[in-house]
Amino acid sequence: MAWFVRIREDVNSVLERDPAARSRLEVVLCYPGLWAVWIHRVSHRLWHGHLRLVARLLSQVGRFFTGVDIHPGALLGRRLFIDHATGVVIGETAIVGSDVTLYQGVTLGGTGKGHGKRHPTVCDGVFIGNNANVLGNITVGENSRVGAGSVVLSDVPPNSTVVGVPAHIVYRNGLRVLITDPHEVKDPLSDVIIALSARVEALEERLGGEAQTAEPFTAEEAERTAYREQLDHMRQYVSMGEGI
Ligand SMILES: CC(C)(COP(=O)(O)OP(=O)(O)OC[C@H]1O[C@@H](n2cnc3c(N)ncnc32)[C@H](O)[C@@H]1OP(=O)(O)O)[C@@H](O)C(=O)NCCC(=O)NCCS
Repeated sequence: MAWFVRIREDVNSVLERDPAARSRLEVVLCYPGLWAVWIHRVSHRLWHGHLRLVARLLSQVGRFFTGVDIHPGALLGRRLFIDHATGVVIGETAIVGSDVTLYQGVTLGGTGKGHGKRHPTVCDGVFIGNNANVLGNITVGENSRVGAGSVVLSDVPPNSTVVGVPAHIVYRNGLRVLITDPHEVKDPLSDVIIALSARVEALEERLGGEAQTAEPFTAEEAERTAYREQLDHMRQYVSMGEGI
C-alpha cells in the first residue's frame, strides 16, 4: 500500500502547488512530470536490483513519453513536482530532496569534468525556474530558489534566491543582497569590471573626492525599493509563474 500513499501525496502536492490543477483525475491524466517520477521509481529499483540495462531502457521509454530524462541511478525525494516536464534532465549521481519543484528545461547535470559524485544535490523545498542549469557536485540549500535561465556553478546557501549566468545571490533569508564589491562578481568579465572599478576610484581620488557620493549604489537601491513597493501593491497579480 506504500506506493498508493506515495502516489496520493504526489497528486495532492501538485494540487497544492499548481493553481491550474483542478482535480485529482486531471493531475493523474495530464501531468507528464508526475508520470516521469513514477516511472523513475520503478527504474531506480531495477537499477539497484542490478538490472541496469532494463532500468536504462525503462527510463528511455519514460523519456519518450514525458520528455523528462532521469537517470535510474538518481536519488529522488518525496513529492517532486516537475511542471510542464519537457526537457528536464537529471543526472546519475544527482540527489533531490523532498518537496522540490522543477520547471521545464531544468538540467541537474555534470560539468563534464568530474567522476564519481558529479551531479548536484538539491535540498528540501527548493524551487528551480525554467531552463535553469545546476551543474557539478554542488548543493542547493533548503528552500532556496533558482531563477529561470540561471546557470548555477557553486553552492547556494539555504533560504536564498540566485539568478543570472553565472548565478549570484539576490536574496538571503528574505533580505536583498546587493553586490557592491566588484571582486564578488563571478563572471568571465569580472577582471575587466574590477579594473574599471579601480580606475574610477583612482579618477575620483584625483578629483579630490568631490565626485564621490556618500554611499555607492544609493540611487540604484532607492530606485529598486520604489519598484518593489509598486510590486507589493500589485502582489495579487504577481506569482512565481505557477500555472502558466
Ligand atoms: C528567481 C525568482 C523566483 C525571483 O523572484 P522574486 O523573489 O520576486 O525576485 P525579484 O523579482 O525581486 O528579483 C530580484 C532581482 O533579480 C532579478 N531577476 C529575477 N529573476 C531573474 C532571472 N530569472 N534571471 C535574471 N535576473 C532575475 C530581478 O530583475 C531583480 O533584479 P533588480 O532588483 O536588480 O532589478 C523569479 O524571478 C523567477 O525566475 N521565477 C521562475 C519562474 C518560472 O520559471 N516560471 C516558469 C513558468 S512556465
